[in-house]
Amino acid sequence: MCGIVAAAAGNNIVPVLVEGLKKLEYRGYDSAGLAVIGANAIERVRSVGRVAELESASAGTQAVTGIAHTRWATHGVPCERNAHPHISGSIAVVHNGIIENYESLRRELTAKGYVFTSETDTESIAHLIEATLKAEPDLFAAVQIACRRLVGAYAIAVIDQRQPGKVVVAREGSPLLLGVSETGNYAASDASALLQVTRHMVYLENGDIAELTAGSVKITRLDGTPVDRPVHVSQLSAAAVELGNYQHYMQKEIFEQPEALANTLEIVGGSKTIQPGIFGAEAGNLLADVDSILILACGTSSHSGYTARYWLEAIAGVPCNVEIASEYRYRTSVANPRQLIVAISQSGETADTLAALRHAKSLGQQKTLAICNVPESAIVRECALRFITRAGPEIGVASTKAFTTQLAALFLLTLVMAKVKQRLSAEQEAAYIDQLRHLPVAVHKVLELEEAIKAWAQRFADKQHALFLGRGRHYPIALEGALKLKEISYIHAEAYPAGELKHGPLALVDANMPVISVAPNDQLLDKLKSNLREVEARGGELYVFADADSEIPESAGVHILRLPEHYGELSPILHVIPLQLLSYHAALVKGTDVDKPRNLAKSVTVE
Ligand code: G6P
Repeated sequence: MCGIVAAAAGNNIVPVLVEGLKKLEYRGYDSAGLAVIGANAIERVRSVGRVAELESASAGTQAVTGIAHTRWATHGVPCERNAHPHISGSIAVVHNGIIENYESLRRELTAKGYVFTSETDTESIAHLIEATLKAEPDLFAAVQIACRRLVGAYAIAVIDQRQPGKVVVAREGSPLLLGVSETGNYAASDASALLQVTRHMVYLENGDIAELTAGSVKITRLDGTPVDRPVHVSQLSAAAVELGNYQHYMQKEIFEQPEALANTLEIVGGSKTIQPGIFGAEAGNLLADVDSILILACGTSSHSGYTARYWLEAIAGVPCNVEIASEYRYRTSVANPRQLIVAISQSGETADTLAALRHAKSLGQQKTLAICNVPESAIVRECALRFITRAGPEIGVASTKAFTTQLAALFLLTLVMAKVKQRLSAEQEAAYIDQLRHLPVAVHKVLELEEAIKAWAQRFADKQHALFLGRGRHYPIALEGALKLKEISYIHAEAYPAGELKHGPLALVDANMPVISVAPNDQLLDKLKSNLREVEARGGELYVFADADSEIPESAGVHILRLPEHYGELSPILHVIPLQLLSYHAALVKGTDVDKPRNLAKSVTVE
């Protein structure tokens, strides 16, 4: 979603702003802009489209203080007029989030004579600060006063032509951090934008406001109380967010999965047993009393939850439900204080997942666990227990390595719950841990199927629709395969549990409807084979991802790719890999923008 970069330094900051925006491109955006304090007036450049265009348009602009933004349209269409920064008098503002009372602010400010030139909620912040400056000329104090009138979520950065050398930033509900250094001070919505200048980061809390100059940082609460926020040295490596030899981040991240899994599973070490403490010091006591689990998540993260449900019920014997966060938060549900709430999120910022978690807590559900890839995120901070997946930064909008590492984390949760419920013998535990340890090697072998998958992608990249089938714990993998394909190749894809085929989707099957089937050699294989024959009989073309030992014969309309080894309970982690590769290569054939698919954002921080 939207991204912010701001800088006050001793030398030209325009290249820092542009480079920072480039690092935020992955979050998804449709327009970009920057504003700097010029010699006589605010200089603003905005463009619809890529940051590269903004870079060309701002060539020659030089300044020591400025703010910049990538916008993902919420209020008003993507166009230059709606792009940030928004200017009012001598000030310019960039904003992430949504201001809920913007209509009443707009009416009030219009009555005072302010003329709105955009449809955005942000422009009302710009005019509100400008109006406040008339009575309170200090920018920091004026932003403090103005922010107290805002309802909703925001992270903002403001400059004033009449107060050069200064940037004021504030946050409530949307992420914002500072980067501090000896040569300048910076702010951004994501640490990756600032690694180019510093590793020293200060995370602002909700209700914080800060003033940055080249040589100073002042932070207070909105009511003026001074606060001291610690400086963290970011462990993110700049190389982790570089593309290296890969063509796209998605490709890089698919191929990073063996390493991401190895890092995530490092916590198990060489041990033959696993302890609840991997979820936090309190986990032993907290989990002992758990009678059921409710998983809350969105998008790909919900698919890891649906997969885990099969594990948690079959191996640990714990009743488990999975709910899409945006549904749960508005539904009247029956609270159960003994239920463990598991919030799964790559970013830890997804507005619906965070709101669903808060809703559960407000109902008295205090047993909460975050499974997340970002340690400092809001979801992690608000849960009693946590497991941090160590996938490394995921830049491609379509989630890949975050998904498989979430699955690994959820399998660890399954083992811990099974132990707590005394359903796991020491031999079974040791065997599962061995299997987990071997997982990176097994994934590596599946990645070697890439060439064969490329050929398949060629065959159906010109199709309009595709069906994905799976059964049991591989049904969520079919869901994930269909989501990947539609996200990045724009081919309409749906997933069904294969047994449902005859209850509707079979009506769609003909030679133009490729049917992709996840067919590991498990106890449901025979049932699945009958479903596949139903497709074959209707002239449908089948693409089957089987295991080395699945006995499915190849024929004219039945193409089979065999994964090197059957992986038992953990098989979903292997079977999703070819589906990721298939979508990636179908998108390449179609020439879509793989890492930044149209209309989508990496972290959906607004509702
Ligand atoms: C967006 C992304 C998806 C992601 C979903 C949930 O829609 O495009 O890739 O699965 O958000 O994100 P989270 O960070 O909570 O896992």
